[in-house]
Amino acid sequence: MFESLQAAPADAILGLIAEYRDDPRKQKIDLGVGVYRTAAGETPVLDVVKKAERRLVDTQTSKAYISTAGDPAFNAAMQTLSFADAVAGQRLLTIQTPGGSASLRVAAGLLLRARKDAAVWVSDPTWNNHVPLLGGAGLTLKPYPYYDAATRTVHIDAMLDTLRAASKGDVVLLHACCHNPSGIDPNLEQWRAIGEAVVERELLPFIDMAYQGFGTGLDADAFAIRHLAGLVPELLLSTSCSKNFGLYRDRVGTMSVLAKDSKTRDIIASQASSLVRTLYSMPPDHGAAVVSTILNDAELRAAWIVELDAMRERLSGMGKLLQEALQVTAPGHDFSHLARAKGMFCFLGVSPEQVARLKQEFGIYMVGSSRINVAGITSSNVEYLAKSIAAVL
Ligand code: LMR
Repeated sequence: MFESLQAAPADAILGLIAEYRDDPRKQKIDLGVGVYRTAAGETPVLDVVKKAERRLVDTQTSKAYISTAGDPAFNAAMQTLSFADAVAGQRLLTIQTPGGSASLRVAAGLLLRARKDAAVWVSDPTWNNHVPLLGGAGLTLKPYPYYDAATRTVHIDAMLDTLRAASKGDVVLLHACCHNPSGIDPNLEQWRAIGEAVVERELLPFIDMAYQGFGTGLDADAFAIRHLAGLVPELLLSTSCSKNFGLYRDRVGTMSVLAKDSKTRDIIASQASSLVRTLYSMPPDHGAAVVSTILNDAELRAAWIVELDAMRERLSGMGKLLQEALQVTAPGHDFSHLARAKGMFCFLGVSPEQVARLKQEFGIYMVGSSRINVAGITSSNVEYLAKSIAAVL
């Protein structure tokens, strides 16, 4: 049976985890996979998560099945976190999913059942797994210009021109905040222009929000969702709690659909339920139960926001720290975008050959596109990092 199979290529992001782990060099630096790290280089369990877990151990009375849609208390809290009161709740469906990836996969299934031939426009560049995940599910993907490497800003005119030329009813995948990989987000005026193009071409916004709270703040980072939800009849949203709750391997996320009315919402709910049943039957409980415990308790929620704010501030501080260090080691080069980027990622802006040299000669790991996770920077490694980058420029 399996003789015909060839080895699959390693995932460009996950492959780096093993490569870094196996590198014996002391000074090595991991700027690869998107996990948060403290100033000590650790990815700890949040204090508030530990508290919620203790409470759960003491109070949870059953592990019996809930439903394909997961826990209603989690779904309601997450829906409010994403949409606030931007639209009437009767038009909204939110289901618990195993992380953001499964959410994207269920959304892809819904799109395929609803309109197989709709193209899904994805930003160029986008998260490494968007294209294999959505394309592998059977959707037709097309790129829209997004990041202008020359100016290190959003290529807004080219993006809008492409969206305005899309077929009516196509889907546009948007990153709500902290664009992965560039870290460069549209400003409010640009989001409004994107909203106008979406309305003009009757496009379905499909928003991926994996970093709420890592950009500017919980509400500011959800601006695009709330703004677009007020403009369009229908919208899809995938969220992840991997980063903002640090629950990576617990797999917690949501998929939401804004439907034109409550009757359509109920039909979509039944379709989503049947898709989930055939994909993974139902989502894992633990991580979502932790998030629900936190969001539905005023004290724990406030403690979470303090920890989230600290993560966001460290990320933006590290981008600035590297930029300042590079001003010293590579004075002829402009790295000002490192201080402007939002969230975990930005492009260093070096070639694939320079990325390879940084790994081979200096033990510095990043994705081949030169995407760096700024959480890997610390005040103790920034000098070595800046000198190494200067050495390959
Ligand atoms: C990343 O982009 O590094 C993260 O979202 C982790 C992943 O699954 O790729």
